[in-house]
Amino acid sequence: MFMPEETLKKQRNKYDVDESLESEFNLAHLKRSGRYIKKYSKQLIAALCYSVISIVAGLVYPYIIKIILDNLVPQKDVAGMLIIGGICIILFIMIMLADRARGIISAKVGQKIVSEIRSDLFAHLQTLPFDYYDSRPHGKILVRVVNYVNAVADFFANGLINIVLELLSLVFILFFMFATDVRLTLLVLTGIVPFAIYVQIIRRSQGKASRAFSNKTANMNAYFQESIDGMRVTQSFVREEINQATAQGIASACRSAYMRMVALMYTMLPSVLIISALATSAIYLVGVGHAMTAGVIISMGVYCGRFWQPIQSLGALSNQIVNTASYLERIFEVMDTPAAISDKPDARPLPPVKGEVCFKDVCFAYEKDVPILEHLSFTAKAGDSIALVGPTGAGKTTIVNLLARFYDIGSGAITIDGIGLYDVTLASLRSQMGIMLQDTFIFSGTIMENIKYGRLDASDEEAVAAARVVHADDFIKLMPNGYNTYVTERGSSLSAGQRQLISFARTLLADPRVLILDEATSAIDTKTELLVQQGLQRLLKGRTSFIIAHRLSTIKHCDRILYVSERNIAEAGNHEQLLAARGLYYELYQSQLAD
Ligand SMILES: Nc1ncnc2c1ncn2[C@@H]1O[C@H](COP(=O)(O)OP(=O)(O)OP(=O)(O)O)[C@@H](O)[C@H]1O
Ligand SMILES: [Mg+2]
Repeated sequence: MFMPEETLKKQRNKYDVDESLESEFNLAHLKRSGRYIKKYSKQLIAALCYSVISIVAGLVYPYIIKIILDNLVPQKDVAGMLIIGGICIILFIMIMLADRARGIISAKVGQKIVSEIRSDLFAHLQTLPFDYYDSRPHGKILVRVVNYVNAVADFFANGLINIVLELLSLVFILFFMFATDVRLTLLVLTGIVPFAIYVQIIRRSQGKASRAFSNKTANMNAYFQESIDGMRVTQSFVREEINQATAQGIASACRSAYMRMVALMYTMLPSVLIISALATSAIYLVGVGHAMTAGVIISMGVYCGRFWQPIQSLGALSNQIVNTASYLERIFEVMDTPAAISDKPDARPLPPVKGEVCFKDVCFAYEKDVPILEHLSFTAKAGDSIALVGPTGAGKTTIVNLLARFYDIGSGAITIDGIGLYDVTLASLRSQMGIMLQDTFIFSGTIMENIKYGRLDASDEEAVAAARVVHADDFIKLMPNGYNTYVTERGSSLSAGQRQLISFARTLLADPRVLILDEATSAIDTKTELLVQQGLQRLLKGRTSFIIAHRLSTIKHCDRILYVSERNIAEAGNHEQLLAARGLYYELYQSQLAD
């Protein structure tokens, strides 16, 4: 498919949107995350102790070189050499064991922190309103739950310990250096000044580069996730080439951002190496000039090399701190998004209801200034079946969304059995409602698990009975493993009608007092629909039901039909009354008859 360069660029930019979040480093995010590490402080301190053992043991080596060169070699002390050899082996084993213990503790703590943050995030994600998911690519949410949490936990389990360690090893190295020679140590220390100036200069650019990289990664995730979800549409419209170009563009933006970050990081190493080399040369120069012993000069040379290692690591770690803070910012941004519709402090559980539903003067808008429903009022008597019909986009789904409290109403009131919807707890409300959404979703698992999704305690017999009512049983029985047939996410191994029948059975099994069916049978052939309806008649008795359908044959027998149009109910009555009124419903019916 041909696409002009200009359009292609636009297409690419559309997905290459960055999240606008606080740009400057903010210590508050790190502080706030303290609660995740506090309870592991004992383990972290143990890990730190092991590391200290390993570092101190490692630092003794140069000192041993000094003893060998200055004492043992001149005196040809073989016995002393044997003892030193033994000490070296013990030190080596100590370092090995201490490193192993530290590695295991860090990994354990890191994984615990990962699962805790992730579980908190997931718990919160489950409370977030529909519009949170409506308003952003799901890939960007995923990247926070998966990648950012990993990076943050790695910082807590390793980075944090490493910072303390590097500081400690600096102290130890300085101790050994001062013990070896004070003047040479002071000489090495003067190198810190130019290094500090350099770090100050690149710090800002580093922060910017790493934020850019995490943004581009999120964009890539979002695009890939959307592309995988939409693969069928892509292939049927032969959009592969264009999408490939878009993906390449996004991936290359990601690569450039990464390379910018790496380039900055690798200016650190040469600068440290230069300063370190200059300092070492100075040691040799001054050492030889002042006729110091070979042992002192060589061991100070080794210490000087070591001295700059922790400094370089601290520089790199400062980068990790900046990254972690920006990841935490995004994680907390999710956690701080207010829950969907939280219960009022004095909300009480909704007692078992008969099912009288009343909308009083309800106004609602998804987006400010774009009213969807205005001053809507109607009452559904307990046990009535109410049909909602009307043109596409009129607000039928919106009405049932409000009843299930997926969105908050702007003004007015909705009551069930006279009890305000907003005075009761969400869980007690929804557990008495069976909602079959317009876009059905099948989860990975067996058909049986899918039917029992809303009522895990249901027996197999009950699930089969529900499937029989909607005539899903007929086709399930014919499947290779019957009810134990495995279906995938989105149920792609099922036909659209079969997916609907399974979610229909799922809704019925929940045995709700108020039943909401949004286009429950739209994908099912008219003959099967008739059978489903006959089964339903029995089931609907005694329950209030809201049935949305475009096909009027589906709702003809409902007790009351509400014709939704222009932000309100235009006509109401039963099928005969509405036909007699010769209004909108009559027109719609005539047009379907003509078909
Ligand atoms: N999440 C949303 N955010 C913003 N606007 C929305 C949202 N969902 C629906 N709308 C708008 O609200 C209006 C009513 O939508 P609704 O889904 O209730 O229509 P409907 O009557 O169910 O249509 P259909 O018969 O096509 O299912 C539409 O104009 C739609 O653009
Ligand atoms: Mg709808």
